Amino acid sequence: MALPDPRADTTVVVTGASSGIGEALARELARRGHGLTLVARRRDVLRSLAGGIAADHRVRVDVEVADLAKPRSRTAAVRAIQAGDRTVVGLCNNAGVGRFGAFWEEEPEQLNALVALNVNALHELTLAFLPEMVGREEGAILNVASILGHGPVPNNASYSASKAFVITLSEAIHAELAGTGVSCTAFSPGPVHTDAIAASGVEDVAPFTPSALFADAGDVARAGVDAMEGGRRSSIPGVVNQLFAAGSRYLPRTVTLPLQVAASRLPF
Ligand SMILES: NC(=O)c1ccc[n+]([C@@H]2O[C@H](COP(=O)([O-])OP(=O)(O)OC[C@H]3O[C@@H](n4cnc5c(N)ncnc54)[C@H](OP(=O)(O)O)[C@@H]3O)[C@@H](O)[C@H]2O)c1
Repeated sequence: MALPDPRADTTVVVTGASSGIGEALARELARRGHGLTLVARRRDVLRSLAGGIAADHRVRVDVEVADLAKPRSRTAAVRAIQAGDRTVVGLCNNAGVGRFGAFWEEEPEQLNALVALNVNALHELTLAFLPEMVGREEGAILNVASILGHGPVPNNASYSASKAFVITLSEAIHAELAGTGVSCTAFSPGPVHTDAIAASGVEDVAPFTPSALFADAGDVARAGVDAMEGGRRSSIPGVVNQLFAAGSRYLPRTVTLPLQVAASRLPF
């Protein structure tokens, strides 16, 4: 069944819901009638967003403020959500950060925080909510990876490795879930114009990325929620992104790695 039809006593948890793809996922889920629990660090942004979505779509929207990169904060958030009066039937593990640049030139704290959020938080939340979904034989997890997780990406090593973890974990769990009524989707968007892109420094490293390749967050969110409803193992929105992911996965590393290094040095 994957993501069940909306009910008043159920909720879908969306992490990193205060902007970008997470906000778009929240809006798309609410548009389809789902109640929500929005998780991120910025309380005021979340509250204002929750009020707007609730008014626009007549669904209940709760807010859980947490720094998911910090173990205590994310455990407290999980406990608070589990102690709530609604059943969690969906989880969008969307919160994530990117860093672009040579591995050894990055601030160690920033790369460690990336792994804590992109890997540890996603792993812990999946572990926390999946058993109950399996017990009820309904539920859908959408783990937001990236096309950059389908192979190693120089100048993006920790990020691409973190997203490779997300893809491998999600697809393996999905196979384990066969026949349970629950799905776990590895969701791999290509470039989307969001705050993360501006903050990550990608425009300095890969200024050649044509703007036509950037997708609209709303379109990406529609594909993500479709994948949850359809109980999909994997979803890569867009043909160009599917080709990129296939190339990263199946072409020899001796071809892909030098190409990516050369591309990141192009002067335009
Ligand atoms: N944009 C792209 O091109 C692209 C492409 C492929 C995949 N993705 C993936 O899509 C996901 C969303 O990215 P985005 O581009 O939409 O980014 P974004 O606009 O920067 O949003 C990131 C979200 O994560 C939250 N967040 C960041 N650090 C957090 C922390 N420590 N604890 C809790 N929440 C935290 C932020 O909220 P607060 O600041 O309020 O905490 C925000 O809501 C990420 O996993 C990213 O890797 C993005």
